[in-house]
Amino acid sequence: MRTPHGCVAIFRTADDRVFALDDRCPHKGGPLSEGIVHGTSVTCPLHNWVFDMTTGQAQGADSGHVATHPVRVQDGRIWLDTRAMRRAA
Ligand code: FES
Repeated sequence: MRTPHGCVAIFRTADDRVFALDDRCPHKGGPLSEGIVHGTSVTCPLHNWVFDMTTGQAQGADSGHVATHPVRVQDGRIWLDTRAMRRAA
């Protein structure tokens, strides 16, 4: 999803939870929106780093962090809170 403050990847898990993360892997910029979701984690499609979508932290031996953004679903619509993105820009 393109926003005025950057691209955000939106994910829905098997148990119907929704997460929003910057769509740019902190390793080498891979598109996390093309990653594989498993549980509440996403694996980057370029070099397989795994990020916890609840915190944005890289898992395992890798270190790094991707920004997470507040998101909710109401009446079938996804609402993304971009206030923190505006402050960071
Ligand atoms: S760019 Fe994502 S793991 Fe390398």
